[in-house]
Amino acid sequence: MKIGIFGGGMVAQSLGTKLSANGHEVMIGIRKPDAAALDQPRNGAASLKEWVTATKAKVAGLPDAARHGEILINATSGGGSIEALTTAGAAHLAGKLLIDAGNPLDFSRGAPWLLPEYSVTTSLAEEIQKAFPEVKLVKAFNTMSHALMINPASVQAPHDLMLSGNDAAAKETVKAFATREFGWQSFIDLGDLTGARAQEAYLIVWMQLWKATGTHLINIHLAK
Ligand SMILES: NC(=O)c1ccc[n+]([C@@H]2O[C@H](COP(=O)([O-])OP(=O)(O)OC[C@H]3O[C@@H](n4cnc5c(N)ncnc54)[C@H](OP(=O)(O)O)[C@@H]3O)[C@@H](O)[C@H]2O)c1
Repeated sequence: MKIGIFGGGMVAQSLGTKLSANGHEVMIGIRKPDAAALDQPRNGAASLKEWVTATKAKVAGLPDAARHGEILINATSGGGSIEALTTAGAAHLAGKLLIDAGNPLDFSRGAPWLLPEYSVTTSLAEEIQKAFPEVKLVKAFNTMSHALMINPASVQAPHDLMLSGNDAAAKETVKAFATREFGWQSFIDLGDLTGARAQEAYLIVWMQLWKATGTHLINIHLAK
């Protein structure tokens, strides 16, 4: 399958590495895919040049990744996601499944909080869906570290992948994708895309849990 991933950081690289290893044709899309961007260190992740060498996958511009992908993944920083998707091109996104793993975090005032334009009465996912009504948007994978996304077995206890979206069939596709590609077994379906408000706000809790436990290999399990 052809998979287009927007963003060149840890999430894009982790998902891209695993999906390439699983035999998919992965293309990462960034704003300016020139030699300097490929060489640049990426916030704790490898440079994209190293990533290409390791995976044999591709890095291109945002519109090329959007055209390439049968499934698309948003792994850009939340404050830049709508700009990234606009550059990718609405026509290239239309009708496709877009998995939104982004979080609209605001680090500008010390302890992170949610960007006001993407919180309280809305969410990043809802604003993406509004801006690109023809995309089949599913919010998923944003509630855990990039390492856990692709290897749920690294937490040896039951734990859940939260997801939400307006298109029921697209959510089922994402569940099957998460199970087949990474081994996810348990899901919390938060309903339509308003559920993304909870998924994105949960990041504030997640970051406190990370601080309190000292590990990013953590997740939650819904007990009823
Ligand atoms: N790190 C994690 O473990 C983790 C876990 C769950 C969710 N998330 C969320 O997943 C997303 C990606 O996280 P990350 O840690 O991999 O990377 P990141 O450092 O947050 O940034 C990823 C990419 O966003 C792109 N970007 C930023 N502003 C942009 C704009 N205005 N237009 C187009 N592209 C823009 C940059 O691409 P260029 O190369 O084009 O500059 C950058 O490579 C974030 O929303 C994050 O909150 C992260």
